[in-house]
Amino acid sequence: FLFEDDKSGSVRRVKSRVTSIMFSKDIYQQRREKLRQDLGSGVIVFLGNNEAPMNYSANTYHFRQDSNFLYFFGIDHQPALAGILDADSGEDVIFGDELTMEDIVWTGAQPTIAERADRVGVSKTLPYDELTLLLKKAQEQGRTIHFPPPYRHDNMILLAGWLGIPVGELKSKASVDLIKAIVAQRQHKSAEEIAELDKAVDYSRAMHLAVMRAAKAGQKEYFLAGIAAGVAQSCGGELGYPIILSVNGQVLHNHFHGNTLRSGQLLLGDFGAETHLHYCGDITRTCPVDKKFTARQRDIYNIVLDAEVSTIASLKPGMKYLDAHLAAARRMAEGLKSLGLMTGDMDEAVAAGAHALFFPHGLGHMLGLDVHDMEDLGEQYVGYSDEVQRSTQFGTAYLRLARALEPGFVLTVEPGLYFIPELIDQWRSEGKFTEFIAYEKLDDWRSFGGVRIEDNVVVTEAGCRVLGKAIAKTIEDVEALRS
Ligand code: GLY
Ligand code: MN
Repeated sequence: FLFEDDKSGSVRRVKSRVTSIMFSKDIYQQRREKLRQDLGSGVIVFLGNNEAPMNYSANTYHFRQDSNFLYFFGIDHQPALAGILDADSGEDVIFGDELTMEDIVWTGAQPTIAERADRVGVSKTLPYDELTLLLKKAQEQGRTIHFPPPYRHDNMILLAGWLGIPVGELKSKASVDLIKAIVAQRQHKSAEEIAELDKAVDYSRAMHLAVMRAAKAGQKEYFLAGIAAGVAQSCGGELGYPIILSVNGQVLHNHFHGNTLRSGQLLLGDFGAETHLHYCGDITRTCPVDKKFTARQRDIYNIVLDAEVSTIASLKPGMKYLDAHLAAARRMAEGLKSLGLMTGDMDEAVAAGAHALFFPHGLGHMLGLDVHDMEDLGEQYVGYSDEVQRSTQFGTAYLRLARALEPGFVLTVEPGLYFIPELIDQWRSEGKFTEFIAYEKLDDWRSFGGVRIEDNVVVTEAGCRVLGKAIAKTIEDVEALRS
């Protein structure tokens, strides 16, 4: 694909990696069968996504199918579909309306819904309106209707009308049994899914290499963001989430791309592609705007890199990701202490939450069909368990995955260190953690920005494996790209 090991930075097509448009039929059948068995009884409803208007109905955002619908029914590129699984009868049905001749004239012929359904092992299809009747009948019969928490407003309005539930109550009325059963399946990535995630990381790698090779003082951030987006699409993919690319890396989800790169700054890029099967890569790299890191940038960069590499080396089944998060925090705090920016006992500092001045986010999250995988189902079910509850402490509270790891989990490892002037000022004025933070030294670091380094791993029986081909991350390898 594009930019592969191409030092010149010129666009070079190596090979198209777009192969099939879905997994084999039996995979979808097995997933649905397991879900029906796990639920035991009731009607399970999945609404596919619709087109989302940008400024008028016919001018739409890029279509993205719902991830649960993709997982269980596999049908992409077609709005206004719904699928039900009847856990009592074992019957699955796809609801949707066939294209009219007018649709075909404007958008071209497509396989029929029956043909698409057959590819995922569903033999019964009905017009979309029939779903209303089916749900009404199920309600009259007193059957349980299981639905996942809806997040698209049009689907919320539809569901509220069909089920007679106020829109504002829909999320709380979603089926917890269904949520748990979906998480139980989707959290363990199969070999086919892992192959797709390797591919997503390789696309994301191409994006990052292109940006790190192209970045120069005087450019606008949007010029580089455009290269990243273009590479994702040229690989046959799409962006998995809005690009974060900024000389203000200390702003964690910085989607503003209007700054000019200046000598002496760091450039933080957090972006990734999703493949045409919608599996997502989530990679962060930080490089200097100049060809070389400054001494100060090297110091912080190497502390973050050490935390990232040592976390990856430590991961294995049974380990709580909360413990990995806290270990990374302690390691980075020790590094900051060696630079004179923190003082005292770093175990105590991390237990108290003082490290969060510099590391105010979580170490990582699950990754899959979604960049924050299954976040629509609720982080308490995805990242936490009865044994591991969410912390209320600033910083650690943002950890999206805390529970014990299992083989087949795919997750991000993304430690970072940031100098956030507003937060430094607030904590300092409150006299917060003065025993651990050398505030007087920080005056000199206010414009440093931030460093984050992020890779994606799959947990194996023995430890973990970094997905995709290696992406430059040592100081030497990053500087070599910049030469
Ligand atoms: N890639 C953005 C995030 O993990 O939140
Ligand atoms: Mn991430």
